[in-house]
Amino acid sequence: MLKRAIEIRNIINHSKEIHIVTHIDADGITAGAIASETLKRLGKKYSIECVKQLDDFILNKLTDENHELVWFTDLGSSISTDYPDINKIITDHHTCPKDSNLPFHLNPHLFGLEGAYDISGAGVTYLVSKCIDLKNMDLSALAIVGACGDLQDRKFCKLQGMNREILMDGKSTGVIQNMMDVRYFGRETRPISKLLQYSGDPFIPGLSRREDACVSFLQDLNVRLKDGDYWRKWIDLNKEERQKIISSIAQILLTKGFGHKIAARLIGEIYILSKEKPGTELHDAKEFATLLNSTARYDQYEVGLNVCLGDRDKWLKKACNLLGGHRRNLVEGLQFAKEEKIQKRTFLQFFHAGEGIRDTIIGIVTNMMLNSEDVDSNLPLIGFAYTENGDVKVSARTTHDFVDKGLDLSSALRNAAKELNGIGGGHNIAAGATIPKGKEEEFLDLLEKEIKDQLGL
Ligand code: C5P
Ligand code: C5P
Ligand code: ZN
Repeated sequence: MLKRAIEIRNIINHSKEIHIVTHIDADGITAGAIASETLKRLGKKYSIECVKQLDDFILNKLTDENHELVWFTDLGSSISTDYPDINKIITDHHTCPKDSNLPFHLNPHLFGLEGAYDISGAGVTYLVSKCIDLKNMDLSALAIVGACGDLQDRKFCKLQGMNREILMDGKSTGVIQNMMDVRYFGRETRPISKLLQYSGDPFIPGLSRREDACVSFLQDLNVRLKDGDYWRKWIDLNKEERQKIISSIAQILLTKGFGHKIAARLIGEIYILSKEKPGTELHDAKEFATLLNSTARYDQYEVGLNVCLGDRDKWLKKACNLLGGHRRNLVEGLQFAKEEKIQKRTFLQFFHAGEGIRDTIIGIVTNMMLNSEDVDSNLPLIGFAYTENGDVKVSARTTHDFVDKGLDLSSALRNAAKELNGIGGGHNIAAGATIPKGKEEEFLDLLEKEIKDQLGL
């Protein structure tokens, strides 16, 4: 991978002006920010844009614009062997064709690593950045935020593979710290009762999604919710209070028969951006990633990008304002999906959000749904939502257990979408597609066939 990174570095060195194209999620923004900052430090001219996916419209536009060099980050692998008129470099981690081992293409799958948890799009981009100048090692913090945004810590409750080497770079340059703590989202900024209310991995029967139950649970343990007007956060609790909460939740899980493996998921490695202020949305890598997801997924990628590039003033304020809307959309999206009811078929289950959930967050909602009490995790979950262009966005999620049995949603969605003149791809555990409206039923038939074949059923 490092050899390939050097090849890409040489292409960059020989170019005067570079156009970056990246993805709209946290990993995409951090990848784009690493690429921008690297080029800025090199004194190169550059521009950047953020896209939902690489469709014909974008690719034809890029071809017409005739850029000297296009740097695709956190996407691009799917077209690595196509569009020869676009002079390109690609730093991506999505599954890719075997014949795409080309001098301008860096992707972990080409080197025997797994793009779903060994390294993210931001991480791959960081490898090139570090290769250009060791001074760029401070950008490892953004690569860790990208990896957390893509849930790469989920399989082992900590980052692994190449992500660990990036973590070591972050530690040695003093930008990142790792420690063991509760894995729930919002350690620094969410009132403790909210942290429990929105818990998903592991889901706590009787507490998750139940506000009143979470408040009484904490009161019964004599954990103060507030200090005056101030809602206490997880980081404000003392060691004894934290231990009390964790062991009580573990007890609930064990009593309900969830087993030690699930209970152990309460604790995991968490990542702190040492240079950021504690108690802000930027200190914990997972919270930073969610802040970024609140920007580009709502057509405001420049907000997230400027925060990654160091703005702690106007752009950070804007990002924090967008965060409130994003949170509301997720809560409403989950509620909506629940009411829509999930329909089960033999090899998958699905729900159709229509216009009820934005196409840019249907993936997050599908993920959260699969983790919730009401959904059977023994079938892959498919979420549909309409796009502004009159197409249908598809998001698919499954579990590590199914991936271990041979399920690969990326190729399943790619093949099924292709049959219907759509596009799809992603990772084995999480994939997406866009298909024409009205083709949902046909798509599900094709997808079921793919899944059945993959699992040898
Ligand atoms: O496009 P990108 O690779 O950045 O997005 C990765 C997607 O895969 C995210 O939506 C993330 O939630 C999902 N994922 C997951 N479980 C994992 C790894 C990734 O749901 N273990
Ligand atoms: O949009 P969603 O979060 O469901 O996407 C899941 C994964 O599939 C992401 O990694 C995304 O980049 C990828 N994807 C893709 N091609 C598409 C749609 C999504 O590779 N057409
Ligand atoms: Zn990614």
